[in-house]
Amino acid sequence: MADMYESAQFEETLKAKQLEVEELLKMALPKEEDFQKTVLEAMNYSILVGGKRLRPILMQETYHIFSQNESDRALMQFMLALEMIHTYSLVHDDLPAMDNDMLRRGQPTTHAKYGEAMAILAGDGLLNLAYETACGAFEMMPYRGDSGFFVERHQRIAKALKVLSRKAGVYGMIGGQVVDVESEKRGDVITPEKLDFIYRLKTGALLEAAMVIGAQLGGASETEVTIVESVATKVGLAFQIQDDILDVIGDTEILGKPVGSDEKNEKATYVAHYGLEASKAKVAELTESALGQLYRLPKHNRFLEDLIKSLVNRQK
Ligand code: IPE
Ligand code: IPE
Ligand code: MG
Ligand code: MG
Ligand code: MG
Repeated sequence: MADMYESAQFEETLKAKQLEVEELLKMALPKEEDFQKTVLEAMNYSILVGGKRLRPILMQETYHIFSQNESDRALMQFMLALEMIHTYSLVHDDLPAMDNDMLRRGQPTTHAKYGEAMAILAGDGLLNLAYETACGAFEMMPYRGDSGFFVERHQRIAKALKVLSRKAGVYGMIGGQVVDVESEKRGDVITPEKLDFIYRLKTGALLEAAMVIGAQLGGASETEVTIVESVATKVGLAFQIQDDILDVIGDTEILGKPVGSDEKNEKATYVAHYGLEASKAKVAELTESALGQLYRLPKHNRFLEDLIKSLVNRQK
């Protein structure tokens, strides 16, 4: 709860919020039964095995800049949907045809455990379940006549659904992954513009979805949503640069995924292009700038600010 939060308890509060997301996920995930049991197991494995749950928490906390409602079921549906899409993106990102990694969230990757075909299908399954879950937001608000409140609420959910689809698709995460894969083994040929494009899309887009949807469902104005989106773009860029830094200087035990994956694949990364020190400085600078913009909003959420700050020095 934003209003009862004390900064000293950041870690504890974060843990509680992560557990809350995990409880919601467990309720929303499929039962492992019937002839397609294997894919259901692979889906549940991929999403429950671990992870920071950053995107649903960012969504929830951005929502709480604008609304104090602690039990918005529509918001919960979108939090779940986004974590499903994020997890599907990781399952596919690890496939042999993509980054070919064997460790994720401290455990064998989905393809390492269930085989390649099942990992592709589990990713597809999570993606479809995500939209089914997000559509459930409409059902969380049963029709109560043609009141203005009802109409506005449904319009906000419809907008959120559009943002989710677009930011996950070819103009968002998928688009970024395409250019990421195409830019492998190109050395210094990559331009700074293309590098920024990859980051803004492959990682930034889902963080933008998180914060924009949180703002929309929380009742933010168009101007406020625009500010939130710009904050998220910066947080997303900083987050991916830090991910690259950890790929070089991180600890596999803490990170839960292999270090050196980018070097192995000769990826076009910030670290490869600008070096470690410049990349670290960029993470700090982007985060400062994001926070500066966040402070411009008329309302505040201290936990969200602390969360964004904590990402600068994250070890996983
Ligand atoms: C990993 O995302 C992929 C990137 C976009 C860098 P996270 O670092 O949020 O992964 P989990 O969800 O905590 O496993
Ligand atoms: C992640 O980029 C982008 C995704 C959309 C999954 P990376 O390939 O660097 O992510 P990790 O390091 O494998 O988590
Ligand atoms: Mg990748
Ligand atoms: Mg990868
Ligand atoms: Mg990485």
